[in-house]
Amino acid sequence: MSYSTAKSKALFERAVQVMVEGGSSPSRGPANYGEYPLFIERGQGAHLFDADGNQYLDWMMAYGGLPHGHAHPRIVEAVTQAVATGALVAAATEIEIEVAEFIQHMVPSAERVRFANTGTEATMAAIRLARGYTGRPKFIKFEGHYHGWYDDFLVNAHPHPVTSLGHRRDPIKIADSSGLNRRAVDDTIVAPWNDLAAVERALETNRGRVAAIITEGIMSNMGVIPPHPGYLEGLRQLARSHDVLLILDETVTGFRIAAGGCQQHYGLDPDITTFGKALGCGLPVAAFVGRAEIMEALAWGGVLHYGTQNASRIGLFAARANLEMLTAGDAEAFRHTWRIGETLVAGFRRVFEETNTPAIVQGVGPMFQIMFTDRPRITDYREYCEFVDPARYRAFAHALFRHGIYMTPAAALHSVASVVHTPADVETTLAAARAALAETDAQ
Ligand SMILES: Cc1ncc(COP(=O)(O)O)c(C=O)c1O
Repeated sequence: MSYSTAKSKALFERAVQVMVEGGSSPSRGPANYGEYPLFIERGQGAHLFDADGNQYLDWMMAYGGLPHGHAHPRIVEAVTQAVATGALVAAATEIEIEVAEFIQHMVPSAERVRFANTGTEATMAAIRLARGYTGRPKFIKFEGHYHGWYDDFLVNAHPHPVTSLGHRRDPIKIADSSGLNRRAVDDTIVAPWNDLAAVERALETNRGRVAAIITEGIMSNMGVIPPHPGYLEGLRQLARSHDVLLILDETVTGFRIAAGGCQQHYGLDPDITTFGKALGCGLPVAAFVGRAEIMEALAWGGVLHYGTQNASRIGLFAARANLEMLTAGDAEAFRHTWRIGETLVAGFRRVFEETNTPAIVQGVGPMFQIMFTDRPRITDYREYCEFVDPARYRAFAHALFRHGIYMTPAAALHSVASVVHTPADVETTLAAARAALAETDAQ
């Protein structure tokens, strides 16, 4: 049967009559999908099924929100049980203690845990907490790091022409959105990543006014860019010696890189950490955690953080089942996803080499991204902006759709291996990649 997406097309025509660009996030619309997106009807295991009945092997996994794939029976059972007994009570519950204890056990820096719903909520609360605790207004973020859609973070988070960015040592701040609160943006200091001297300079220039440094542990919103060896440890030391807090944004890496997140992998001890995505297995559960002394500032009358939906039973029942499965058998889940991720990355590299395609694959364990570039590696935001070809990646991802593989068509994002992926899935994907490359090269 030939590949048809006629129903998706018709659904998009209907969608734009009620929603801007036909949906609830611009990344799901024409900017990444072209004329119209694929409308997904259901997910099962490692697969997605669209409105036309096409089946896709899913490597996007809701941007890492599904460590056990779609509709895992234990998650379905947990959520069903929660719904049947009161999805949301907005009151104290034992499940909240249980999941907090689980996180405390898995992540030693989590002396205290506070639940939220999304990564954005967790990072915005973390910044407020840092400001409230230190009494200082500013924070340092890095070029190309995305911490959610809160005003304070939306500078130099998306790719911009490198010619508008100024000197690497003194980046020009470029707002990623209209309508931002300019005062919030003024208090955001932007620095290049993987460059400790630049951070030290920013701390010196703003001495006494910086509450925190916030960083992704592994860049995952500009393709995947790992930290230079020793870089995160250097950031930790700089934060300590300048008496500012280190906030590690593990929205992407948490419960994915290791049981204790990327802080376990790199041996880090952040002051505050944010989690999201993989924690809830598809349910909106996020958390920010940290040293008890800092987190105590959230007590009544201190730093305000509310939320009717915080710690919903539905999300926490899913989180408990998730963490039980992730830690079972001495955390075999992580070994499996690392094996699958690394085999797939090696396979892609082989395919690109054999087909003389100017593309590289960067990753850490289960997370990876393909970048069309003639550079041997991409180490920071500016190199990404200057040397990576997002249009070519998009065309490749669209061709993969036609061969039954679903990788994000958003060049700056990434793909991920989950527990339900198998070595056979890797082989299927590599065969599809060869076919997709042949098609895109022919165009
Ligand atoms: C590193 C990082 N932090 C925070 C967020 C925001 O999370 P959410 O989309 O759940 O608000 C994201 C989302 O992609 C992210 O990648």
